[in-house]
Amino acid sequence: MQPIGVFDSGVGGLSVLQALRLELPHEHFVYVSDSGHAPYGERDVSHVLQRSLAIGDYLVHSHGARALVVACNTATAAAIAALRAAHPALPVVGVEPALKPAAAHSRTGVVGVLATRGTLASDKFQALLQAQNTQVRFVLQACDGLAAAIEHDDAAQIQALCARYTAKLGHFGATPDAIDTVVLGCTHYAFATGVLQNLLGPAVVLLDAGKPVAQRTHSLLAQSMAENAASTDDQEKTDGVELWTTGAVDTLRDAAQRWLCGAGPVRHVVLG
Ligand code: DGL
Repeated sequence: MQPIGVFDSGVGGLSVLQALRLELPHEHFVYVSDSGHAPYGERDVSHVLQRSLAIGDYLVHSHGARALVVACNTATAAAIAALRAAHPALPVVGVEPALKPAAAHSRTGVVGVLATRGTLASDKFQALLQAQNTQVRFVLQACDGLAAAIEHDDAAQIQALCARYTAKLGHFGATPDAIDTVVLGCTHYAFATGVLQNLLGPAVVLLDAGKPVAQRTHSLLAQSMAENAASTDDQEKTDGVELWTTGAVDTLRDAAQRWLCGAGPVRHVVLG
């Protein structure tokens, strides 16, 4: 069976891959970590666009991917339209900060958003923000360095940056004007959930987009298979994950062991 291609600038997209594996346990996934060209969130849009297109081509042409999941908010903002134009026959699913679910959840009407500088500055994010309920106030914070600290599993730096950026967001809790819901607008940040929850307290809800992205992928695949019934007939049960990185193999292997309870082999690839 043709795989589903998934990519991120690094290990962050493993948080989405985890949700995809739960949602689609019999699918085969090929994951690319572009850590040789990361972080995306602090680079210019043309870099992220060019990297995303190169990885999309690699997943489709070298692995025969039959769907692409952009497991990175920054790459989605910069490149989802171009990826869809480049691969018009495939479902291409992106990830964006969970503003709408956060607004629906918040009782205080104040929502914090942690994301990369690139995501927050993008037209796509600004349009998403404009489309939200005006009764809710969103407090935005760019988190320079946090994805890199998570990538390198630097516990002291993760703690320090989470403390710095959450302090900048404001105050937290259930009282009016306090932030009671925080959106994790970068897929790396899902791996700092424990640190963030300790800093913010148990009453604050943290929302990432892994599960909704996995559900959306599931429904698009079901649709495309219904439209192309022949491909459903030869469907095999070939669950598994192949991991590729443009950077250090050990980094991705360690992260996969920690967050995916192990996976298939991890290999290096030169792209672009
Ligand atoms: N994981 C990526 C995201 O969701 C970005 C991390 C980076 O800056 O490279 O935005």
